[in-house]
Amino acid sequence: MQPEPTGALPALRPRCVLCYTMRVNAQYGWDAEVAIMPAKIKIGSQEHLELFCRSFIDTHDPYDIEKIEWPELDRDTHGRLAALPFWNEAVSTEGNVALKVQALVPLISDPLLREAIALQGFEEGRHSALLGKMTSHYGIEVPPFVRDPLSDAEWDFIRTGYGECFDSFFAFGLFSLAGESGFFPPALLRLFEPIIQEEARHILFFVNWIAYRRVRHPLFQRPHDLWQTTLALALQVWARIQTARGAQTDDFLLQSTESVKLDITFRGFLERCLQENDRRLRLYDQRLLRPRLVPGIAGAILKVSGGRRGAATPVATQQ
Ligand SMILES: [Fe+2]
Ligand SMILES: [Fe+2]
Repeated sequence: MQPEPTGALPALRPRCVLCYTMRVNAQYGWDAEVAIMPAKIKIGSQEHLELFCRSFIDTHDPYDIEKIEWPELDRDTHGRLAALPFWNEAVSTEGNVALKVQALVPLISDPLLREAIALQGFEEGRHSALLGKMTSHYGIEVPPFVRDPLSDAEWDFIRTGYGECFDSFFAFGLFSLAGESGFFPPALLRLFEPIIQEEARHILFFVNWIAYRRVRHPLFQRPHDLWQTTLALALQVWARIQTARGAQTDDFLLQSTESVKLDITFRGFLERCLQENDRRLRLYDQRLLRPRLVPGIAGAILKVSGGRRGAATPVATQQ
């Protein structure tokens, strides 16, 4: 079960904490108060490890894809769905991400961290299986799954994590706009909602894991960590530059944007991505670090181009 959103909480004024506390408690209950005024947590501490692993494990949604009742689609909707060009890429991407995440599990010695990463591997496999079931239910042809070669498990996990930080940010906005446009029927969107929210949990877990790992490593290992992180980010930025230049036509995120044919400016799209990113990540413990790189770049683009950001919950950030 996903936690309930805390809603629009009043802005915290440090000089009248008592008034604020009474107001929030009266309106939202003590849970909301805990969410908006959290105690600080030391990044890299045992407490931090337990918090980001427990938050991840406790918010797992145990839905069973075998019990999904696929909605009837009218001919037009089915035609639009089947014509989307990215199903092959989506199924194989999710399948490969699952294999890469699962490959890291045996190398993790801490039982709680191992449980959390194994759970993420399970969720990625479920994404791939759900997409596979959908394509077969609606008669959408998808070529056989091709495995990416595995390299170093930790490096694969880092590359995958940064890849998800980039792609999920845009997927949040795209999914919201696709729902509004009526391109997909609500019944189908409801089936895909857990996948999108799970990606929010994955990137939240990832940025906390990478910060925890960095702090726990001895000082002499920090340059290597920095190099790994920089390289992973640079490779992801390069991949997305290629995408933006249209050089990589198999990128399913770009294809999604083009296929759904959204009537929205680039700035409007970025604003929606930021709003959705804030909304989805706001659901989790406010002491956890949040991804900041992609939202930060998007916010900077909006600022430079004169756009305005929607209200965001102030939270700690890291990437
Ligand atoms: Fe996934
Ligand atoms: Fe994921």
